[in-house]
Amino acid sequence: MKVLLLNGSPHEKGCTYTALMEMAGQFQKRGVETELFWIGNGPVRGCIDCKSCWGKGRCVFDDDCVNRLIEKIAACDGLVIGTPVYFGGIAGGLKCVLDRVFYDAKRLFSGKPAAGVVSCRRGGAGSTFDQLNKYFTISSMPVASSQYWNSVHGDAPEEVRADLEGMQTLRLTADNMTWLLRSIQAARAAGVEPYEREVRVKTSFYKPQ
Ligand SMILES: Cc1cc2nc3c(=O)[nH]c(=O)nc-3n(C[C@H](O)[C@H](O)[C@H](O)COP(=O)(O)O)c2cc1C
Repeated sequence: MKVLLLNGSPHEKGCTYTALMEMAGQFQKRGVETELFWIGNGPVRGCIDCKSCWGKGRCVFDDDCVNRLIEKIAACDGLVIGTPVYFGGIAGGLKCVLDRVFYDAKRLFSGKPAAGVVSCRRGGAGSTFDQLNKYFTISSMPVASSQYWNSVHGDAPEEVRADLEGMQTLRLTADNMTWLLRSIQAARAAGVEPYEREVRVKTSFYKPQ
């Protein structure tokens, strides 16, 4: 069983990384393998809504981490996405990545437990956490919850490590995700699979003539 830990900060080993490493330690304690994926700090395009990805699960732009990340998420059993809070929301680079990763490929992630983690100095954690959860809950990904909404506070890794409640919340998220993963594994072994999905209906907000 493997959980992918996505570090959406431009800092490779900053606060978000420190939070994800706390979870990695807990997953390891429970016998779950983890893999860290850093999006880097190079230029990333936003989604241009060209719809080339539809039915393919791949972005038309192949010059950054997006397609590699889609493959990694499709291959893992669980996903944790970590972001620093920028102006009360997901950091811009990660937002560009996630919009392109999830637009079509979200159907490949269905059924995989997921959790968001946010790192902030002071404020905006709640709205950013909600934003991350939007990607999971539009993708039929069961969200692993905890004793609080996953946030750590700090401007440097040592400050994050001193956020004892934040760290404990993340360890419980890792435990709850492990339990979900094992429950899904046991259900599958017993022949319990998700229900067949209806063909997707899409209604935009217009008044039929
Ligand atoms: C452009 C920018 C915007 C930020 N906006 C916020 C914010 O709205 N609220 C906050 O508490 N911290 C804000 N911060 C601080 C970071 O969220 C915080 O230092 C974070 O823990 C850094 O994580 P990292 O080391 O993984 O990059 C901002 C930082 C930057 C660079």
